[in-house]
Amino acid sequence: MDLSPLDEAGIALAVSSAIAAFESASTLEELKEARLTHSGDGAPITQANMQIKSLEKDQKPVAGRLMGSARKEIQQALDLATARIEALNEERMLAEEMVDVTVPTRRAPKGARHPLNVLLEDVSDFFIGMGWDIVEGPEIEHEWFNFDALNFGPDHPARQMQDTFYVDGVETVASDGSASDQVEQPGLVLRTHTSPVQSHTLLSRGAPVYIACPGKVYRTDALDATHTPVFHQIEGLAVDKGLTMEHLKGTLDHFAKAMFGPEAKTRLRPSFFPFTEPSAEMDLWFPLKKGGPGWIEWGGCGMVNPEVLKNAGIDPEEYTGFAFGMGIERTLMLRHGIADMRDMVEGDIRFSLQFGTTGRGN
Ligand code: DAH
Repeated sequence: MDLSPLDEAGIALAVSSAIAAFESASTLEELKEARLTHSGDGAPITQANMQIKSLEKDQKPVAGRLMGSARKEIQQALDLATARIEALNEERMLAEEMVDVTVPTRRAPKGARHPLNVLLEDVSDFFIGMGWDIVEGPEIEHEWFNFDALNFGPDHPARQMQDTFYVDGVETVASDGSASDQVEQPGLVLRTHTSPVQSHTLLSRGAPVYIACPGKVYRTDALDATHTPVFHQIEGLAVDKGLTMEHLKGTLDHFAKAMFGPEAKTRLRPSFFPFTEPSAEMDLWFPLKKGGPGWIEWGGCGMVNPEVLKNAGIDPEEYTGFAFGMGIERTLMLRHGIADMRDMVEGDIRFSLQFGTTGRGN
């Protein structure tokens, strides 16, 4: 039976059943269905509303008020239910899409810094701490810097092809694009030691200088347990007024202690290098030596040969200097008991990881 717009009880019933239907809806779909049933075009309350216009004039305001407040109540209930369901949905979505950051994941394996690079940095830090400068030189070096400037005679055996990598001339391209003959570029080598940085620096800076020069050097050795064709050295050079071998010895002892601990000390044995006079082989007192504590060869050193100073335009009557050079690989091997050089060059992450991800053994 049709609902009359003047039927107060009937209207109240329609309102309360609409409210009940909205309240019991738990999804937006259910709510939509309830809305169509209770306030859609075909709903009794809507139909009743449409009848107002055909009522007697004096009945219209009564019906209008009744219907107005009924429809308002229904709309409010609908809004409330919509908000309630949307909040529910939001809550469910948050719960379902929550990410548990504590669940263990498959992580990318950590890399590790190579212990040689770390040692090179530590060594450089040591010299910086003494107020020395770090200087780098070219790895492709002119023969003059690698040998002549350092007082190697023209027939010195170190210049032999068996020891030194010589660099071929570069091929030039003619203007028509065709390759012309290889141009002779005599005298370029892969530096066999870091000592040429001494001459570069003396020439560019003059005296006094206090420098340490870390870097790669090359020799024609095959890779085996004790040789590698590419390795690293650290070169030290101090040129100033009044420097003596005592300064050299003190610097080396200090360096040894920084690298190997407070027990470490050095000993000098007479030797020969063209660029130092006198020259010495430097031994390191090594408490952890296999078979008991003892001396181990660590590097070469000496007082800078006056010829080297002269070749760099420095007056040897006014300035003297000392120099030293040692292998970084050898230093790392001694410090950590590494028996095979190949472990250091093969790039196996398992080797580097033994020193920790920072390469400092932590
Ligand atoms: N340049 C030498 C080498 O490669 C090492 C060396 C020895 C460096 C004595 C020096 C030095 O500065 O004084 O074997």
